[in-house]
Amino acid sequence: MSVPKKIKPLVAGNWKMNGTGADLRELRRLHAGLAKHKFGCDVAVCVPATLIHRLSGMKFGAKIMSGGQDCHGAEKGAHTGDVSAEMLKDAGAKWVIVGHSERRAEVKSGGHGETSKKVRDKVLAAQKAGLRSIVCVGELLAERKSGDTLKVVGAQLRQSLPDTCSAADIVIAYEPVWAIGSGLTPSVEQISAVHGHIRKALTRRFGDAGAAMRILYGGSVKPSNAAELMAIANVNGALVGGASLKA
Ligand code: 13P
Repeated sequence: MSVPKKIKPLVAGNWKMNGTGADLRELRRLHAGLAKHKFGCDVAVCVPATLIHRLSGMKFGAKIMSGGQDCHGAEKGAHTGDVSAEMLKDAGAKWVIVGHSERRAEVKSGGHGETSKKVRDKVLAAQKAGLRSIVCVGELLAERKSGDTLKVVGAQLRQSLPDTCSAADIVIAYEPVWAIGSGLTPSVEQISAVHGHIRKALTRRFGDAGAAMRILYGGSVKPSNAAELMAIANVNGALVGGASLKA
């Protein structure tokens, strides 16, 4: 197997259910900031579906790519309120987040109860539409405490990814559920162990493509800890929630 060329990091913002048209101002500021620095990363912002078209019209080109936060697994049909991958693409999106823990969460706790099988269907739909997927995996606090982190993350990864994955169209995001929006971050050793485990699983299954796939870390990433987190082996960028709302 050949050694992958240096992996270009991706920093992706996830605005979640935040933002209206006026908030796109922040992205003008971000764009101006990026122009001032030599920034060796790809940058994407996954805005609410209602803003994708407007963001795409802001002509940031490849400097700030736009993305959606979810898509349906079917191409079209009677799915009131849902958005297909092709619709996101048509609105200008380049990326889509799939399998975020806020969608995997049980319905009774406000989530959508999405299984990894459903996530896999969404990845396939995104591939078909020509969108790149950010596939999220991550353990609950109880799973971390019971020592099941690697088992849980490994199973999510196995079941969420179809066999047809390339480094160009799939990015993995490891987001421990207990670190999201909590201000808590795992230790460097904990992140390193999970990212190393994901890298091994990807390489075993996809060979060179798995060795070259980007693995992002997400969960309470902010300006004060970003540099330290990005320096960890096998961390190839970040998926940023709350902190991405500010340029
Ligand atoms: P926070 O950065 O707000 O913890 O959110 C992380 C996240 O869920 C990104 O998808």
